Amino acid sequence: MMKGDDIPHDIVGGPAPHIPVMLNEVLDVLEPASGKVIIDGTFGAGGYTKAILEAQAHVIAIDRDPNAIRDGQVLVDQAQGRLDLESGEFSELDQIAERVGHPAVDGVVLDIGVSSMQLDEAERGFSFQQDGPLDMRMAQDGVSAADVVNNAAQNDLTRIIGILGEEKKASVVSRAIVRAREAVPFSTTLQLAKVIEKVLPRKAKDRIHPATRTFQALRIYVNQELQQLANALFAAERILKAGGKLVVVTFHSLEDRIVKLFFKDRFGGDQGSRHLPAVNHKHATFAATGKNLIKATQGEADVNPRARSAKLRWAERTADAAHPADFSIFGFPNLAPLAGFEAGGRA
Ligand SMILES: C[S@@+](CC[C@H](N)C(=O)[O-])C[C@H]1O[C@@H](n2cnc3c(N)ncnc32)[C@H](O)[C@@H]1O
Repeated sequence: MMKGDDIPHDIVGGPAPHIPVMLNEVLDVLEPASGKVIIDGTFGAGGYTKAILEAQAHVIAIDRDPNAIRDGQVLVDQAQGRLDLESGEFSELDQIAERVGHPAVDGVVLDIGVSSMQLDEAERGFSFQQDGPLDMRMAQDGVSAADVVNNAAQNDLTRIIGILGEEKKASVVSRAIVRAREAVPFSTTLQLAKVIEKVLPRKAKDRIHPATRTFQALRIYVNQELQQLANALFAAERILKAGGKLVVVTFHSLEDRIVKLFFKDRFGGDQGSRHLPAVNHKHATFAATGKNLIKATQGEADVNPRARSAKLRWAERTADAAHPADFSIFGFPNLAPLAGFEAGGRA
């Protein structure tokens, strides 16, 4: 059996290695140990997986990015049978675990969002700080950000940018996008950033670049991140053993809200007003057995800026049967379906 120290510490990450966020807190909750099976739904550079392997647990790691799977093969070889590294979406984590022979697991951890490697590689098109193709697809497959900005109707763009980017001036941005694409279709990140900068000039007091919110919206939309997260929570509920832990680290309010609403619903009980007829007699499938919301320490935020906005929510699975997947608990906005925005799709 491999000892943790046998795994070299420099085998994951490239020139800008991804620093795992809130790793100590994740481990404190998961309590990985020999004989336990943990799903790491967001393998990335393998930061969490590596630490869980070091604690002698078995890991089923998932990533939708082919680069992450390719770079993780070294760790698979070193883990000597204790790491299943699977290409796929975490919305299907229960099916993936079953496929590799684990119909019930002791823990599920999700570290939502993009990795430093994805952000730093200009050709992935996630960042407006460097020029690259306007892509943003984590899986390197399907509808790209350029397809969306070139083909979506203006009112669909306004809703996507307003809701997923929380951009107050979404209609100004979408009008500028539609006007610009009539002259030249979008193909690069800087092309889009410049169009946004022109209609939303940066003021001295602005902390962030004016394109930040639009880029966030396109990334969430192209990767269907909110639907993926909601489905992953339902999948975790189905695959966790009684006493198993679900741990989710998020980085912005849209994601955190989904996790919060899920746990609120799954903690069960009567959550209606005491003046109205009871509205929720659901049995509890999760229990809060400790401090359910944890933020990164100031010390971690000082050394890793990504940790500043991190929120960790977790709960322990009860023995009761999983509820059906019901998206109404999240109150999702009605956005145009992604399929159809491929090059030459509807406009
Ligand atoms: C923030 S990084 C995870 C970093 C990791 N915890 C570490 O310590 O190295 C998120 C990773 O999750 C992957 N990812 C995001 N959404 C996904 C999804 N729906 N299904 C599978 N992988 C996903 C991304 O491709 C990315 O590699």
